[in-house]
Amino acid sequence: MSRLKAAILGATGIVGQQYLRMLKNHPNFEVTGLFASSLSKGKNLKESAGFKLTDDVEEFGDMSIEKADEEILQRDDIDLIFSALPSNMGGLEETLSKKFPLITKSSSHRLDSDVPLIIPEVNPEHLTLINEQRKHGKAGFISADPNCSTTQLAIPLKALEPFGISQVIVSTMQALSGAGYPGVSSLDASGNVIPYIEGEEQKIKSESVKILGTLNAEGHLMLSGMCIEAKCARIPVPDGHMENVFIKFKSRPDLEDVRNALRNFRGTKKVQKLWSSPELPIILIDAPDRPQHRLDLMKGDGMSVVVGNVKMSGEFLTFTSLSHNIIRGAAGGGIQHAELLHSEGYL
Ligand SMILES: NC(=O)c1ccc[n+]([C@@H]2O[C@H](COP(=O)([O-])OP(=O)(O)OC[C@H]3O[C@@H](n4cnc5c(N)ncnc54)[C@H](OP(=O)(O)O)[C@@H]3O)[C@@H](O)[C@H]2O)c1
Repeated sequence: MSRLKAAILGATGIVGQQYLRMLKNHPNFEVTGLFASSLSKGKNLKESAGFKLTDDVEEFGDMSIEKADEEILQRDDIDLIFSALPSNMGGLEETLSKKFPLITKSSSHRLDSDVPLIIPEVNPEHLTLINEQRKHGKAGFISADPNCSTTQLAIPLKALEPFGISQVIVSTMQALSGAGYPGVSSLDASGNVIPYIEGEEQKIKSESVKILGTLNAEGHLMLSGMCIEAKCARIPVPDGHMENVFIKFKSRPDLEDVRNALRNFRGTKKVQKLWSSPELPIILIDAPDRPQHRLDLMKGDGMSVVVGNVKMSGEFLTFTSLSHNIIRGAAGGGIQHAELLHSEGYL
């Protein structure tokens, strides 16, 4: 079967290059267009960006970069768009979605009421929100991926939702690559922790209640009533976000039941079969000093959330999680999302 033709917006950035790496041998999608800012226009990937990850994307090095603008609407060699653009792009994603299915990593449309905010294992049923966009006569649509630190929180929250969560407190330690390239200056980053990331705390709160929300009989999304508080810090590791999570339940659950729920969480059968789905969305580790970046970041090829040190502390359940912000939290999550759209007939 022929593969769908995919364009990458923001192809020269950290997330864009991870998309290229992960789409290299993909069974459903092939990369046919690279787009970035006017600074990169007319150069090839090698000249404009160099390789920001490894030489894993060398085979795309001679592809030329075009400017990401509304001229893309004239193209007939694109079936879907992966957008890894910054958020403030003056409505470009909205414009392109008139013609193309567009899966976006940017935060611009995440909270729009007719845009699904998808983690395949958590809320695949929210894809039906796309039908609302189609009522306006668009041929394409926007479907969004959450912020990386939200994804990592929402997966274990979904596993624990049946126990009746009332309050969640999360404290994050986020990698430097989360700020894009070149990101935080080396003098600010090295040997230092910055206890604030602009906009991040609000994103975790508002995106989590959307993702964990439910569709009512009319197909509209009702936000979860869970109360979530977040504090976010930037730490000097290249990749991987760590989160310390504290959860209060309506009534205190049995610790072993909680551990089993995390261990056995899978997502629907259809989602389990997607090419990028990890065998275990959550990997539970028993040792109290895990997860660690050096030991656990690439578990499940970077698509699993690794959870450790699960215990009751007073009235809170607490645990520590680790997730790859560029793989599960960005390109890997976006590709898995596109696979879900494909398997559900939206592409
Ligand atoms: N990094 C992460 O961990 C992560 C995780 C989840 C979500 N995200 C989101 O993913 C998106 C990309 O992040 P990133 O880390 O890859 O950022 P990045 O490394 O800074 O890359 C940004 C990309 O956007 C392009 N760009 C910038 N301004 C543009 C403009 N005016 N017109 C067209 N293209 C423009 C850049 O092209 P040039 O090279 O030509 O400037 C580059 O390709 C952001 O929305 C970010 O919030 C990032």
